[in-house]
Amino acid sequence: MEYLRNAWYVVAWSSEIKRELFSRTIIEQPLLLYRTQDGKVVCASNICPHRFAPLHLGRLIGDQVECGYHGLIFNSNGKCTANPHGDCRIPAAAKISSYIAEERHSLVWVWMGDPKLADTNAIPDFSCLTDTSKFATVGGVIEMEAQYELITDNLMDLSHVEYVHRGILGSDAISRGITKVIEEGETLHSNRWCPDGLAPPAWDAMFGNYGKPVDHWLNMRWNAPAHMLLDVGITPTGKDRSDGIWMLGTDILTPSTSSKTYYFWGVSRAYALDDPKAGEAWIAAIDGAFSGQDKPMLEAQQRVIGNRDFWSMKPVLISADAGAVRARRKLAAMIEAERPKTCEPTPTAAYPS
Ligand code: FES
Ligand SMILES: [Fe+2]
Repeated sequence: MEYLRNAWYVVAWSSEIKRELFSRTIIEQPLLLYRTQDGKVVCASNICPHRFAPLHLGRLIGDQVECGYHGLIFNSNGKCTANPHGDCRIPAAAKISSYIAEERHSLVWVWMGDPKLADTNAIPDFSCLTDTSKFATVGGVIEMEAQYELITDNLMDLSHVEYVHRGILGSDAISRGITKVIEEGETLHSNRWCPDGLAPPAWDAMFGNYGKPVDHWLNMRWNAPAHMLLDVGITPTGKDRSDGIWMLGTDILTPSTSSKTYYFWGVSRAYALDDPKAGEAWIAAIDGAFSGQDKPMLEAQQRVIGNRDFWSMKPVLISADAGAVRARRKLAAMIEAERPKTCEPTPTAAYPS
């Protein structure tokens, strides 16, 4: 499967990377991560060039990694610095690729493409995750056995909420809602406006069991390859958002393989900042909705699709798909643009317009 290469991918929450060896496979590249003694994140290939043992099974010695199989040692730039065998000569090929890692918004972002093109200004804004003056945040990571674009479809088309999350996050107003898709340069917005209806049960409970009609908005921002931020909330019908409750939801999808995704989620609520119970309520809601409802549906969908190309199955398109299809097309065009220009064009499926 082809991936966007010249892109920042979230590999982990900052808190997951410590003074120990950690591994995670993203875009089919097994990566090794650890912190140096001065706290910097190192990201390198997790494959020892000798017999291809995973390096995270070795030892961290100072800022270097000793392979757990035959003891070659690699520094934080990926250079082999010691070979304990024979004449101790270090073969020229004994090195591992290293990747540019940047910590931002409490996440570790890794550049998987041409290092000369890495620009940290291209990392999308998820500052709500760390802005404690305005938000209180809870978050986590969920592994899903599903291709990441299926999950993008799910997030860019929130009409599913009334069906998959009925009784928790769904409501009649959501199914009646209107989605507007707006493109701004490299960014897509899929905004769903659901006025004058009873709030979804989870939201109503968080709004002090309000029980009366509200306006509900669900505005999703998308950047390639699959970095999404949801501005979502409820307010009494016709009132300003400051009269209601709202939050910014981080939904970042990092493909691991063609059928597995790391889903980094965050809820940055702009209300009840000092009430840990509000955070616990969100952890329970996400666990129930994302892990308990979205994940089984997406994984079942993946099992049906198997290795088949999505477009080759000729999916039926409905109006709710507008944002999701736009995101798929934009990403496909970016991947296409990365293909070497000297190559013969590779036949691609026709994307519906
Ligand atoms: S596999 Fe790493 S030193 Fe042999
Ligand atoms: Fe969902």
